[in-house]
Formats: sequence, structure tokens, C-alpha cells
Amino acid sequence: MQELEEYWESFQEEIQKASTLSDWNYLKGKYVGKKSRWGEFLAKLKELSPEEKRVWGKKINQLKKEMEELLEERYQELLSTEEKSEVDITLPGKKGWSGSFHPVLLTRDWILTIFQSLGFRVEEGPEIETEFYNFEALNIPPDHPARDDQDSFYLAPGYLLRTHTSPAQIRVMEKLKPPFKVVVPGKCYRRDAFDATHSPMFHQIEGLVVARDISMGDLKGTLETFVRRFFGEERKIRFRPGYFPFTEPSAEVDVSCGVCGGKGCRSCGYSGWLEILGAGLVHPQVFTHAGYDSQDVRGFAFGLGVERITMLKFGIKDIRWFWENDVQFLEQFNIF
Ligand code: PHE
Repeated sequence: MQELEEYWESFQEEIQKASTLSDWNYLKGKYVGKKSRWGEFLAKLKELSPEEKRVWGKKINQLKKEMEELLEERYQELLSTEEKSEVDITLPGKKGWSGSFHPVLLTRDWILTIFQSLGFRVEEGPEIETEFYNFEALNIPPDHPARDDQDSFYLAPGYLLRTHTSPAQIRVMEKLKPPFKVVVPGKCYRRDAFDATHSPMFHQIEGLVVARDISMGDLKGTLETFVRRFFGEERKIRFRPGYFPFTEPSAEVDVSCGVCGGKGCRSCGYSGWLEILGAGLVHPQVFTHAGYDSQDVRGFAFGLGVERITMLKFGIKDIRWFWENDVQFLEQFNIF
């Protein structure tokens, strides 16, 4: 009977501790199921006198009933707490954090993909250039006024941070045999003060096509295809006469304004057009500097500013936002 008391006490202790339905299941098996000791206790009654048998028999039945009641009570409690802790699928999920490409690089890759689909291959050139590649070979002699427009960061004498990706034109021509079509992305540097549209470091993509028979028509068709794919089918391009020492003829290329559709509005300065790049037919002098026979080949080249195109594409008003590392700005481009 001592054992019966202990059995009861351990039951009470364990049932209080049970905190999950699986704990409860285990206790049910242990105290009222197959593993319980009630049969054992009832068998022991045989050893007692009729009077004791009556008292203890009653006691055994009463405790067993009480256990069943307590188990049922605890079951209900556990059931309701487990229900409450179940996943609420109406709550917003926990979002993982993921980084993203910088908008300028996103735009760069997007532009490159379009040109690759037109058969261009991607090449690269060094950011530290010699004066020869950056200027002389591109028909910009030391005292040429065009050097003022591209004031640079000079390193050792004769070396500078490239002011545009055009020196890669020469490097590519030295490396490849025509005909070829290349695009060259990369960082460029100019000694410009930061303002809303200038940054001392920026990205360009240079395009160069060299073959026997290339005309302004090829240039125009290529750029039109690019603009339509990048900005949208409805956009138009316009060539204005321009000047670059390394192209002849040269053109400034505009895209029709996406805000007003070309009618003129505040975003395009009421002109209906936005300037996107410089281009032209490769100057014979450039071919000569690259070691080509200028009688034998023709080509076109263009250079576009990636920041500028990104700003036009996404309506970004200040170039400085690209380099401020403001996560609220950058995460808007987490679009893949
Ligand atoms: N390199 C010129 C610039 O940075 C752009 C350009 C490239 C123009 C190729 C014509 C041909 O302004």
C-alpha cells in the first residue's frame, strides 16, 4: 500500500511537469494504459483480510478514477496551449535579407547583354593608361584643347587614370583582326568636382565595330536597336552634329524623352530629347595609330555614360546617390 501511495505521488508530480501532448501520451500509457500497475495492485488484495480488502479495493478504484480525470483535464489544457502556439499563416512571413547588384552595374550588364545579342564581344582595358593610349593615339596631341575637357588624375609622368574608355579602342585594334564588334565597359576618372551630374569616377561603355565597309547607317541602326530594347520600342533617336577628335563625322546622340514622349517637358528641358552618348566613324588617324591601313578599314565607335543612362532609366535625379551607400536607395534595385 506504501507503493500505491508512491505511485500516486509520482503521477501527480509528472502530470504537472507534462508540457506537451507527447509528454501526456507517455504518462497516459504509464499510469492508465498497458504499462500501468493497477492489475498488480488489485492482485495484491488477495493477501489482505476481507475488511482491509474492502477499504483498499475502494481506495484503488478511487485513485484510478481520479488519475483518469486528472489526465483528461491536463489533456484539455495542453490541447488549447498547443493550438494557440500553432503557426498563424495570416501573419507576414519572416523575410530573409539578400544583397543586390548596384544599379550602375545592373544597368551596365543589361546594356552589355543587349550588345552581346547583336554579336558584340566584351573586352576590357586598364584603368591606368598612358598618355599615348588615352590621348595621342586618339588624335588628341598634347596641346589640343580637347584635353581641357578631360582633365585627369596624373600618376607618374606619362601615366594617368583613363578619362574615357576610348583608349580601349586602340588596345582592341592592336589585339584583334577586323572584322569585329566589341563593347568595353569600365571605370573612368576625371578631375571634376562632385555635383548632381558629375562624379570624379564614373562608368562608360565603349563600342567599336571595324570592318571593310561600315557607314553611318550601321551606326544608326545599331544604336536605334539598342535604344529600343533598353528604353522601349516607342523611343526614337536623333543624331546631332558633334565633335570628337577621334571620330569623323561625329555625332551627339539623343533619345526621345520618355516622360513627355518628345513633346517637351521639365525633365527634358522642354526640348523633347535627352542626350545619351557620343559616337562617330573612326578617324583614319586612329586606325593609323593602331597600326591598321586606314585605306583598308572603316569603323564606327560610340561611348556612353552608364550613370547617365541609369539615371534616365530609373528617374534618379542626383548622381551622388550612387555613391552614398544609402541602403534605402540601393535596396530599391533588388529586382532579381
Ligand atoms: N570618349 C568620348 C567621351 O568620353 C565618347 C565617345 C566615344 C565619342 C566613342 C565618340 C566615339 O566623351
